[in-house]
Amino acid sequence: MPAAHAAEDHAAEDQGGEVNVYSYRQPELIEPLFERFTEETGIDVNVVFSGKGLIERIKQLGPAAQADLLLTVDIGNLDQAVAEGIAAPVTTETLEEAVPSEYRAEDGSWWGLTRRARVVYASKDRVDQDAITYEELAEPKWKNRICIRSGQHVYNVALVASMIARHGEEETKTWLEGVKANLARKPAGNDRLQVKGVYAGECDVAIGNTYYMGVMATNEEEPEQKEWADSVEILFPNSEGRGTHVNLSGAVIVKDAPHKENAIKLLEFLASEEGQALYAEMNHEYPVREGVRWSELVQSWGDFEADDLSLQEIAEHRERASELIDEVNFDDGPSS
Ligand SMILES: [Fe+2]
Repeated sequence: MPAAHAAEDHAAEDQGGEVNVYSYRQPELIEPLFERFTEETGIDVNVVFSGKGLIERIKQLGPAAQADLLLTVDIGNLDQAVAEGIAAPVTTETLEEAVPSEYRAEDGSWWGLTRRARVVYASKDRVDQDAITYEELAEPKWKNRICIRSGQHVYNVALVASMIARHGEEETKTWLEGVKANLARKPAGNDRLQVKGVYAGECDVAIGNTYYMGVMATNEEEPEQKEWADSVEILFPNSEGRGTHVNLSGAVIVKDAPHKENAIKLLEFLASEEGQALYAEMNHEYPVREGVRWSELVQSWGDFEADDLSLQEIAEHRERASELIDEVNFDDGPSS
């Protein structure tokens, strides 16, 4: 029997200890998930939340950051964490079974946890087709009808990178020129403001990520967004062909993690059937794990085929994608 004081000293450890999460994702989206994890394992989850600068902070502080697990969105940010040298390649059998290979780094330096599709939000009144392709957005029939945020936003860079992977640089550049010529206005604002553009009649189709449909349709703080959502329907581009472009939210185990074992446990929980269903539902996203039920709201948008390109391959074309977007002066909009 250990002495009483020694037992007290180790109380936290006996109950499973703690894990420090640096999160770009909103605390209210992830906290219920962490509470569940703590109930099951006794491991306390401490969260540092910020909308920006976390990768930089972990890099600058090194071990003093005390960061175990980084949660972020987009392959661009996951790839940046690796490029900045803060990621530890980690792999376990449980993780490999949970996360399909196209949604994780080959060496385990980043892990996808949820998927979001980059889709077309089409006007219910002014678009009369129930299927669409990314390629056709460059055709003259869409002239003056497309709204999209900055071409240099990470979401669009990944989409263009997927076009390079599928069609090569030259065809992708021509495509970008065609889409730019069809824009209704200069790219600006976030994904939801593009849907608002459709609602307001400025454009007929908007490019955006799927979960924003959920955010708008359930928005009690800004209920006018429900009307934006109601004016459009989601078309999954290329779903009947090579598949719709998907991106990820995901996690990285930090190189200097002080509680690496606990970070792995948390990552495995997030990839478990229970964790996947909860995580995806809270963000109106798709689980990466196969066989996990989609939330009812997400199901209501319909089924789709996802492009099976690996996100690692998409990451490899990101730099060239960004250059092409500049070369065609995409963000100048339709007039120049
Ligand atoms: Fe987003």
